[in-house]
Amino acid sequence: MTTTKTLEKPIETGAKSELTVRPRRLRRSEGIRSLVRETIVRPEDLIYPLFVVPNSRQKAEIGAMPGVWQMRVREVVEEAARAFDSGIRAVLLFGLPEYKDATGSSSWDPSGPVQLAIEGIKRQVPQMTVMADVCLCEYTDHGHCGVIVDRNGTKDVDNDETLPLLVKQAVSFAQAGADFVAPSDMMDGRIGSIRSGLDGRGLSDVGIMAYSAKFASGFYGPFREAAESTPQFGDRRTYQMDPANGREALREIELDFEEGADILMVKPALSYLDIIRGARDNFPLPIAAYNVSGEYSMVKAAAERGWIDGPRVTNEILTSIKRAGADLIITYHATEFAKTYRG
Ligand code: PBG
Repeated sequence: MTTTKTLEKPIETGAKSELTVRPRRLRRSEGIRSLVRETIVRPEDLIYPLFVVPNSRQKAEIGAMPGVWQMRVREVVEEAARAFDSGIRAVLLFGLPEYKDATGSSSWDPSGPVQLAIEGIKRQVPQMTVMADVCLCEYTDHGHCGVIVDRNGTKDVDNDETLPLLVKQAVSFAQAGADFVAPSDMMDGRIGSIRSGLDGRGLSDVGIMAYSAKFASGFYGPFREAAESTPQFGDRRTYQMDPANGREALREIELDFEEGADILMVKPALSYLDIIRGARDNFPLPIAAYNVSGEYSMVKAAAERGWIDGPRVTNEILTSIKRAGADLIITYHATEFAKTYRG
């Protein structure tokens, strides 16, 4: 049985209406829409990741990340200069070393690709803020983010043995001239260790952007091709976070806050917008979000097939990350976004 609800008064076109609240008034023209727009992503909000290879190698595009390249030092410096011209004010460097070993010792070589790139960018584009990712996975032959120990036949990453190595790497990048180091390893206590390591060497002006809530995510797939950092056994679930845990993420963020981080980061971004919001609401520091490789690749792949409008979707994605509470966004879309930005 159905009941038909009869309107008390029929709708009369052109007649006076009883509807007084009309949100559509604020959407009538682009002028009005831009007047009331709440969230605007600026090129200055973006951090552009770059992959540096030794000069013995060739410039090469990442298969799963069209538009993203492994570049030699000189090419990275040129790319940073182009990015600056388009309005980008910060880069985040990842290094692919000449050699790998069990402890990632090539990462604190003063003539390593990241150290040389930092020096080159600081020389050629001095106003660019240069950040360097701190982690062992690109530099270890086993591809894990720390030192491996064997406990009764089970291999795992040893937390406390890894800390001094991360400090060495961070100090080396800072001595080369990095403005910020960005530890992405997820070892406990690394922010405190790195802070005191920097301070003890007269590097107290160098900031720390902490990958505070970094989840063990399938969205890092394309990055591992770019950074050649796939673990040779097992996975990263004993140190990166379980994607299911929101409260634990806030706990991780709190620890980095207390240990002296200057910027707190949530990574990945899109599946973790609630964590970004939680970070923004609970901590008074700048919040960064990493729009990671897999998020980039999905947009590129669908746009290539003509299934979505790439630039439009990118704009919507970056806006959503900022609306969720991120002050800064690390994104491979940085320069393409900046080039189309009309401030
Ligand atoms: C290194 C590191 C990773 C990313 C940033 N730093 C990969 C990982 O943890 O396996 C991922 C970035 C991306 O996917 O864009 N630990």
